[in-house]
Amino acid sequence: MCGIVGYIGEKQAAPVILDGLSRLEYRGYDSAGIAVFDGEAINYKKSIGRLKVLENLTRGGLDMPGFCGIGHTRWATHGVPSNENAHPHFNQKETISVVHNGIIENYLQLKKYLEKKGYVFVSETDTEVLAHLLDYYYKGNPMEAIFRMLRRVEGSYALGILFAEHPDTLFAARKDSPLVVGQNEEGCFIASDVPAILKYTRKVTYVDNQEIVKLHASHMHFYNIDEEEIQKEPVLIDWDANAAEKAGYEHFMLKEMYEQPKTVTDTISPRIRKGDIQIEELHMSDEELAAVRKIHIVACGSAYHAGVTGKYVIERLARIPVEVDLASEFRYRDPILEEGAMVIVISQSGETADTLAALREAKKRGFQILGIVNVVGSSIAREADNVLYTWAGPEIAVATTKAYSAQLTALYLLAMKFAKVRGTVGNEEFARLLNCLERLPYQIERLLNTKEQIQKFANRYLAAKDIFFIGRGIDYAISLEGSLKLKEISYIHSEAYAAGELKHGTISLIEDGTLVTAVSTQPELYQKMVSNIVEVKARGAFVMAVTGEDNREIERAADYVVYIPETAPVFANSLAIIPLQLFGYYVAVGRGCDVDKPRNLAKSVTVE
Ligand code: G6P
Repeated sequence: MCGIVGYIGEKQAAPVILDGLSRLEYRGYDSAGIAVFDGEAINYKKSIGRLKVLENLTRGGLDMPGFCGIGHTRWATHGVPSNENAHPHFNQKETISVVHNGIIENYLQLKKYLEKKGYVFVSETDTEVLAHLLDYYYKGNPMEAIFRMLRRVEGSYALGILFAEHPDTLFAARKDSPLVVGQNEEGCFIASDVPAILKYTRKVTYVDNQEIVKLHASHMHFYNIDEEEIQKEPVLIDWDANAAEKAGYEHFMLKEMYEQPKTVTDTISPRIRKGDIQIEELHMSDEELAAVRKIHIVACGSAYHAGVTGKYVIERLARIPVEVDLASEFRYRDPILEEGAMVIVISQSGETADTLAALREAKKRGFQILGIVNVVGSSIAREADNVLYTWAGPEIAVATTKAYSAQLTALYLLAMKFAKVRGTVGNEEFARLLNCLERLPYQIERLLNTKEQIQKFANRYLAAKDIFFIGRGIDYAISLEGSLKLKEISYIHSEAYAAGELKHGTISLIEDGTLVTAVSTQPELYQKMVSNIVEVKARGAFVMAVTGEDNREIERAADYVVYIPETAPVFANSLAIIPLQLFGYYVAVGRGCDVDKPRNLAKSVTVE
């Protein structure tokens, strides 16, 4: 999720690289670094904070001579923002330099292996293992070292690599993290995102999974992982700079919705090992986990909605009682500390004032605090006892989508971990759930591909006055989030109701043609939901149902149905939310709203 830029050519490299990095600043980062081959050695500078600091340190790059280099803006994942953790990373002799986006899932094993061989690590990052691993395999042929390294690493990467002994070559490789290369009369470029190099060239080649590129000043060669040279065709980018920032999507929100399959994969897959769930960051033994008797989940906004889902999932799978509180309520309600209680605070930004204050209040009372946080090194991440990171990367749209999906996923992992240590889920069921979890990213992708149908439907409701969302159990939790997405960006009044509660008041608001979105993914509550649909239909409502593929007969009761692929009912929220996000998005687009920056709202609310 960080930014990579590399250049080799006739021009001085550092100013080109710094300029490219500045085009990626909008994505968010906490530190930056640059390495350039200066004719004798690899010269580098790194700095925590804004790119401006690095620019000042190097006089806009002019103080760094050389024609071949790599640069990086880091958004911390493994290790807090610091000069040591900033990229580029090096082998001990500083003859190999690496910038990396992505997550090396088996970095701890590789680190142990390399430490045994005498390698000394200076950062907390997963990236540093790559520099040492390259050193370990390098016997004079850089391509051989790269191929051998890539065969050892698991996870995702976009890489830029320099070898001091090969100053006329820049190396790049990619798996599951974006990377493009481009060329003009003055040199060749690598970048994690098109906007970084758009000023220099509009002809770019997308590097595909497990491909390696060797770039020289005037030409480049592509290879597959089997070391065979391959031919690739460049594409012409006709987006303007503004659209390029959004990778061609109309809004950041849509782009971020499309990043959800990757976000979910990144959050799950480093924690699944050999059919089990390992959450090393918890720093709790199985015995300590099994001793947790009560959980309080505390958060604001969508993070709170993720927490409501978490309650249902943890209670169902692990049989631990869970209370969910809005942080602004928890901090003043004089919460009681029970023996064996744990507080889970959830926050994308890690800076939300109410959530942070609730954390401090809970800490004062002696609660053990686990943070589920997206921003590494944020206040909540620093003050929580332990942190389970969501690997959603920077989120720009104010209305959260991918961070919310990552929060759900983190809660599923926790629920399953608790269930395993408490023995509340058998081995067979555990394996089945794990399988469902791993299928979620593909299923989310399938749902995203139905966007045209949802858009067509949404266009019918651009003038709606009120829209209701109903559901039971887990589906009530998803209704809360679906309703928030719609109202916060489209400014249409909307409410989420527990479907069984509707008849105690809200049903009087239903008029002829009022849209009611009924979410029904829980088999044991399906018939009850059908009754609720019939109830609102009798008052004139138009009903959009979101349900599982097996429930075709719902078409007899509902007017419009969106089907979600089959999964374990406890994970259904991750799928049901996709059409609801798309619906909210397209209603807002159709109404001409400022989707990415809705009025009166902020991405991170750091005041009470
Ligand atoms: C703001 C944002 C919401 C977010 C909430 C909590 O209101 O607009 O999208 O859910 O804060 O933020 P956090 O960073 O703590 O998850």
